[in-house]
Amino acid sequence: MERRLNRKVLLGVSGSIAAYKAAALVRELVKAGAEVQVVLTRAAHDFVTPLTLSTLSGRPVLTDLVAGDGTWNDHVHLARWADVLLIAPLSANTLSKLANGQCDNLLIATYLSATCPVYVAPAMDLEMFRDASTHANLDRLKERGVRQIGPDSGELASGLSGEGRMSEPEVIVARLHADLVGGSKLNGKRLLVSAGGTQEAIDPVRYIGNRSSGKMGFAIAEEAALRGAVVELVTGPTALATPGTGIHRTDVVSAAQMAEACKSAAGNSDVVIMSAAVADYRPAVAATGKIKKKDAALNIDLEPTEDILAWMGAHKPAGQVLVGFALETDDAVANAQGKLERKKLDLIVLNSLQDAGAGFGHDTNKVTLIGRDTKVLALPLLSKAEVARAILDHVETLL
Ligand code: CTP
Repeated sequence: MERRLNRKVLLGVSGSIAAYKAAALVRELVKAGAEVQVVLTRAAHDFVTPLTLSTLSGRPVLTDLVAGDGTWNDHVHLARWADVLLIAPLSANTLSKLANGQCDNLLIATYLSATCPVYVAPAMDLEMFRDASTHANLDRLKERGVRQIGPDSGELASGLSGEGRMSEPEVIVARLHADLVGGSKLNGKRLLVSAGGTQEAIDPVRYIGNRSSGKMGFAIAEEAALRGAVVELVTGPTALATPGTGIHRTDVVSAAQMAEACKSAAGNSDVVIMSAAVADYRPAVAATGKIKKKDAALNIDLEPTEDILAWMGAHKPAGQVLVGFALETDDAVANAQGKLERKKLDLIVLNSLQDAGAGFGHDTNKVTLIGRDTKVLALPLLSKAEVARAILDHVETLL
């Protein structure tokens, strides 16, 4: 099974012969979708070159708190950036420093600043690993919630055989995946999500738009990526930053552009979630020059845009899960159910405009989930992240 790990991984490499495996570990992480930032201790430079690891990770490798050119490598920022800190290999020396709160290099300073899950993969020779101080130090880390991977038993660099080998890169990635992604059915699935509102040009300076912020669609993209999906996010104009790792983003402006981008991604998608507020009408003709103010009334002829969701329903490949949104003010549930039937959806998310804190621009939302089985699940006011989880939990039951 391909394991998707859409996470920002801070990989600390300390001075152990197993540091040579760090290159393969970076490859495995990147292959799984992770963004990897390597921090190498000075001692690790003797075992593996920064060039190797920066080439494989696509990011400069960091070592010192203050770099050669006098710039400060901000350990606090690095720690906050990371979704997970992995120290592999963990040498006896770095282990001892971590256990005792020393702080004389960038890796340890970052460890002390980290609030994300921390994993260590110890690697040392047999007797070093057996030593009572090593075990006491590992116990201390465990007490603080640090999770240990390995070491394995087998042939060691010294020629001896026993416990102390760093776990293989695939084993380390599998453990991170099991802990952080779990058994989500979205792992490895392709998911298309549309977000935000479209803008339909009246002239070069004006447009018809709506109040959609994109927050709901972005929350869905983020949660799906965390669950291991390969996410295609098609969004109308928004100030929001792409949320997290493993998301390919296409920015569009108009309904026509959104239709084109969504249609070209839909055929390959296992799950399609259309959360965008697409304009239903656009000016029949967009003026090429700025429309001048006159005393008389101004009429703009509007023509319908293409209903992207209806197209998706009509062209739905077998097995695809199609989710639409609805915003209704009257006979909400009945209208949403009608939309579900007409557009051949598997699930419709009915948005509330009535409740305080729900809908456009808010960080919270109140929705009702309606499936093909006509089951209606009215959720309370939740954060958009929680709503995204509820939607994707439901999608997982359909996959
Ligand atoms: N939608 C779409 N393309 C459009 C308009 C809407 O794909 N041109 C999608 C939205 O992304 C949403 C769903 O259709 O998932 C519902 O949009 P909504 O505006 O509530 O419903 P409409 O189908 O436009 O119907 P009505 O305006 O009658 O409520």
